[in-house]
Amino acid sequence: MLSDSMSLPLTIFTALAERKDLLMALTDRLGRIEWVNQAFAERTGLSDDSLTGQKFFTALGFKSQLNVQQTYIREQLLKGESFKFELSYQTHDDRECWLLIDGQPIRDAEGITNKYAVMSTDITLRKLTEKDLEKTNQELEIRVQQRTVALTQEKEKLEQTLQQLQKAQLQLIQSEKMSSLGQLVAGVAHEINNPVNFIYGNLTPATEYTENLLHLLQCYQHHYPNPIPQLKAEIEATEIDFIIEDLPKILSSLKVGADRIREIVLSLRNFSRLDEAELKKVDIHTGIDSTLMILHSRLKVKSNCPEIRVIKEYGQLPLVECYAGQVNQVFMNIIANAIDALEDLVMSEQCFIIYNKATDKGHLTNGYPTIRIRTKLTEDEQVLICIADNGSGISEEIRKRLFDPFFTTKAIGKGTGLGLSISYQIVVEKHQGQIECYSELGKGTEFIISIPVKQTKNNKE
Ligand SMILES: Nc1ncnc2c1ncn2[C@@H]1O[C@H](COP(=O)(O)OP(=O)(O)OP(=O)(O)O)[C@@H](O)[C@H]1O
Ligand SMILES: [Mg+2]
Repeated sequence: MLSDSMSLPLTIFTALAERKDLLMALTDRLGRIEWVNQAFAERTGLSDDSLTGQKFFTALGFKSQLNVQQTYIREQLLKGESFKFELSYQTHDDRECWLLIDGQPIRDAEGITNKYAVMSTDITLRKLTEKDLEKTNQELEIRVQQRTVALTQEKEKLEQTLQQLQKAQLQLIQSEKMSSLGQLVAGVAHEINNPVNFIYGNLTPATEYTENLLHLLQCYQHHYPNPIPQLKAEIEATEIDFIIEDLPKILSSLKVGADRIREIVLSLRNFSRLDEAELKKVDIHTGIDSTLMILHSRLKVKSNCPEIRVIKEYGQLPLVECYAGQVNQVFMNIIANAIDALEDLVMSEQCFIIYNKATDKGHLTNGYPTIRIRTKLTEDEQVLICIADNGSGISEEIRKRLFDPFFTTKAIGKGTGLGLSISYQIVVEKHQGQIECYSELGKGTEFIISIPVKQTKNNKE
């Protein structure tokens, strides 16, 4: 039991001074020790006597404080203010320890600091736990970073795979489209080829036989100028003179027709080139011509559109090493787009068709709808194929997206938006060439394709 009011702080002080984990000291105003508790003395390994008069920090064995701490303490002592900071130090048995040092000024009656009560708590355990936590945190952070890198790589890989898949899908769609067209064309060409050869092969003997028969008839007429009345009537009824004159004409027009069909069949086969999946040296002009042949019906005069003129300005080209079927697809896509653009212009009310009654041909107010195809060989052994139309042209905004897969300005069902992206792949990736588009609104569009005459070794593999 406590008897008077003074004994309470004294008891508390005694209890605190006896604690093993609390280092207590009383110093003068410059930090020189005047009294320490037992825990303090034990920590330093020195006796009370030898501690008296020593600087507080030296006594604890702090070799050197950090500059910032030194400055801070010095300033606080000079001002006679309290100080509080954490300090790490090496113990005499070489352990790292931490103390929280808290110095409170003891002031005289005038308020001037003449002593300090310094309490130091061992916070080594807390510090070690904090260190452990920090280490764990750092390890975690490293692991998170490593995981993030791995995930990013994974994501990039997935994106690449997705892109490859999309590309493959595009190619599949387009090659399916083109191969159906190619197969159809090749099938039709094959079916027509036999009968037309049959007709063509028989036309020459048929012409010869006809000539012989006509000659024989003329001989009869010459030697028997006056046949019996019955025969005479028959001759008049059959208009034999007209037949003699007309039959050779019919036969020669049959030959012209058969020739034309043979040409068409050849073009169809040329276009499909199903048998030529390999790199081959081909005549580019034959490819363009066969493509135009396939598109012939779209170029002809129609009820709502005048004929689309095709002007060819072919230069001297060597045979070009390429995947012919694919290059023809490019011509097909670009010429078909030009036809679409010209038809669109006619349908729009931006221009009028002026028909010439005498020729039954029409032209647009801004000229005949025309596709101009130029070819030439450049000095660096590239073949240039320029396909231009005088349609409505392409705005800058659309031009930037032309080669994007699935980009189309056409109505649903009319365009898939794949034509140019596939053409780009065929020219640029498959043939190491280039494809560029120049266009001016209201004037027209030109696509310039360049393909090297010879493919590099890498590209052949
Ligand atoms: N000669 C051209 N004149 C005007 N616009 C063109 C021309 N060529 C292409 N374009 C524009 O580029 C777009 C993309 O062309 P692309 O050939 O890739 O697809 P598409 O023709 O719309 O569809 P698809 O060819 O798959 O049937 C077209 O929708 C059109 O707007
Ligand atoms: Mg197209």
